[in-house]
Amino acid sequence: MSGTSELETLKAELLAEIAGADDLAAIEAVRVSALGKKGRIAQQMAKLGTLPPEERKSFGAATNAVKDAVSQSLEARRADLEAAALEARLQSERADVTLPVRPGPEALGRIHPVSQVFDECVEIFADLGFDVAEGPDIETDEMNFGKLNIPPEHPARQEHDTFYFPQKADGSRLLLRTHTSPVQIRTMEARKPPIRIIAPGRVYRCDSDQTHTPMFHQIEGLVIDETTHMGHLKWVLEEFCKAFFEVSDVKMRFRASHFPFTEPSMEVDIGAEAIGKPGQWLEILGCGMVHPNVLRNCGLDSERYQGFAFGMGLDRLTMLKYGVPDLRAFFAADLRWLRHYGFSVLDVPTLAGGL
Ligand code: DAH
Repeated sequence: MSGTSELETLKAELLAEIAGADDLAAIEAVRVSALGKKGRIAQQMAKLGTLPPEERKSFGAATNAVKDAVSQSLEARRADLEAAALEARLQSERADVTLPVRPGPEALGRIHPVSQVFDECVEIFADLGFDVAEGPDIETDEMNFGKLNIPPEHPARQEHDTFYFPQKADGSRLLLRTHTSPVQIRTMEARKPPIRIIAPGRVYRCDSDQTHTPMFHQIEGLVIDETTHMGHLKWVLEEFCKAFFEVSDVKMRFRASHFPFTEPSMEVDIGAEAIGKPGQWLEILGCGMVHPNVLRNCGLDSERYQGFAFGMGLDRLTMLKYGVPDLRAFFAADLRWLRHYGFSVLDVPTLAGGL
């Protein structure tokens, strides 16, 4: 058999093998046996040296032509097989998005009610144009008291049942913040008005009984601008309460009170019919117009700027909204309690979807 017809036979055989390969592994096997270093085409090439010089050129060209034809055919076949494999996978792995979530860790885990209420408040206030500010749990005396217009001899200090750290050599001592109000100071010192923030966080007081725990949660609010007045304060709190308790009308009572950092100061009660207890009032927050001393302590011009602040007990709000009878249960880490009162991770509170 002449060299050329031998090549023709080889080509026909290889193309038939390629056509017969019906998966990617088979096609790879054909590729190695045909085009590999010691493959059948390389064996043909090796014969070149044994041929008389006048035949070498045409035999070389013919072998290369076979090699090209085989390569092209291999590639085409591989592309077909890959497309078919992908199609088969798409058919067999089709996801049915209407199926319920499988009970796995995501579905079994629960969001703590306080965390949920945290997120609800952020959602409501974000819609009113507030952003979230933060401050440290370990504070200085100056931030927690001094700059909030509570000087060392002020009686309000006694009411705060403060946890102090040991005194330092210079006589100062750090403390666990007793309220979120120091975040007001930090914000006013760091930013220029207009300011519109809420600051949710943990606070600490040396107090423990049925309605008090040594650590609890507050949400602070602060608005500073040039024309902000009490009407704005009342409106914001009313809008918040309506959105939070998901009712179209909430009865609210503003009682005159006293806080060193606001003047005038008020405590706010809501009519408990909003949560199914008609005839009762429930205190939910303290608020007022930011005291000019506080503005000045933060380097703001108290002739130009004014604003309001409020502080709410987050745990109290959670108990009211979700009917949790005992505050201490929040921090008992009892899994049965969490399964009962907790929220699914998929229950992300949004104003559009419901809180
Ligand atoms: N910091 C106060 C507390 O813990 C609550 C409070 C009252 C905060 C009035 C305010 C406010 O911002 O204006 O008892």
